[in-house]
Amino acid sequence: MSEVRLAPLGRIRARLRVPGDKSISHRALILNSLAEGGATVTGLAPGLDVGSTATALAALGAEIAPAGPGAVTVTGPSVWKAAGPVDCRNSGTTARLLLGALAPRAEGEVVLDGDGSLRRRPMDRVARPLAAMGAEIVERNGPGRLPLAVRGRPLVGASHRLEVASAQVKSALLLAGLAAEGETAIAEPFPSRDHTERMLGAMGARIDTHGEIRLEPGPIRAIDVAVPGDLSSASFFLGLAAAAGGEAVVEGVGLNPGRTGFLSLLERLGADVTVRPEMEGVEPAGSVTVRADGLRGIDVGPEEVPGTIDELPLLAVLATQASGQTRVTGARELRVKESDRIAAIVAGLSDMGADIEALPDGFVVRGPTRLRGARLDAHGDHRIGMALAVAASMAQGRSILAGAEWVDVSYPGFFEALAGCGDSKSILSWRSA
Ligand code: S3P
Repeated sequence: MSEVRLAPLGRIRARLRVPGDKSISHRALILNSLAEGGATVTGLAPGLDVGSTATALAALGAEIAPAGPGAVTVTGPSVWKAAGPVDCRNSGTTARLLLGALAPRAEGEVVLDGDGSLRRRPMDRVARPLAAMGAEIVERNGPGRLPLAVRGRPLVGASHRLEVASAQVKSALLLAGLAAEGETAIAEPFPSRDHTERMLGAMGARIDTHGEIRLEPGPIRAIDVAVPGDLSSASFFLGLAAAAGGEAVVEGVGLNPGRTGFLSLLERLGADVTVRPEMEGVEPAGSVTVRADGLRGIDVGPEEVPGTIDELPLLAVLATQASGQTRVTGARELRVKESDRIAAIVAGLSDMGADIEALPDGFVVRGPTRLRGARLDAHGDHRIGMALAVAASMAQGRSILAGAEWVDVSYPGFFEALAGCGDSKSILSWRSA
């Protein structure tokens, strides 16, 4: 376990690029592996999670070869099989999308497994609708949890009505539906990120996304993908500038409308947000500038949650600096992420002196509070680690963050980038224990 010592950054002045988008990177590797032909992916996310997808695909017979910094070539397997259990490590997207990909394609039995955190996360939300299409998925360790054994079977398309808005579940069903007999239809309670639908469309799939999502089975062709920067990673700097005061500019970042919810929240909090589109391809991308001097509390309801789900722990940090109350509801999903993110952020911010209270499906924060430096814990969760590092950068006095190595799941180099954002150097030292 490594610790990082953090000190206040002062006023924020940041201009940077962030690593490639994690969600798009997973999909570029998996969908190209399912497609006919080969492709090159550039700007691939460097974090451990996307590495887990690459090694899992390689274990299943795909050829993923380095092609320069941040670039790989991808050619899918002719037969989907693995010699032993496939380890998805900490990555929910890897496990869930591969369950869908394997259900109609696995030759014999393939076992998917993960680390302690992933073994605690619900997989029945994918396994159950896949079973309704005819999939054979056997639990090896208690209900709805990894490890799961998938045995390839012919599937039949079905009409799914999802209980939670989850891009991972939706994507798994679409990847299965590509190789099923007949149409697969999916209705979500609220729209979730649509990276899979966009990429499938660009690959020649017969997919209709007006209203309910409808997919006809059929082959897809591999396409080159240039992955934009990850807006979820950029949000830590944009949020820091909003709460600490100053300006942050992040260039070359993905602007998929299913991912920009946090920018709308920043505006409602009182920040000045400028978006400059630079590229409109399969995925829109551009630069985002945030300036602020003082925030006010907001209410966030269930319909806003899918578009900003990964940024809600960071919103809790910002809310400690906003005047009045911020209340988030309809976000029960936070409890089944890499950690229980409601419990983890409430614990960390409470230790820093914040007025924050957990709700079953969200949190309430009353601000503003002058946070004080504290001993913090990432709870084995990259986004909790980064959100608390942002809080520590605005606090009075020094903080120590334990479990700092977890940020590598999505953002290797995060602390170095953070250190370059303010008047003073925030990172004092690293210690590996
Ligand atoms: C993701 C979808 C979201 C998100 C996760 C990445 C994806 O999860 O929280 O970080 O790439 O599809 P859910 O599908 O569980 O909401």
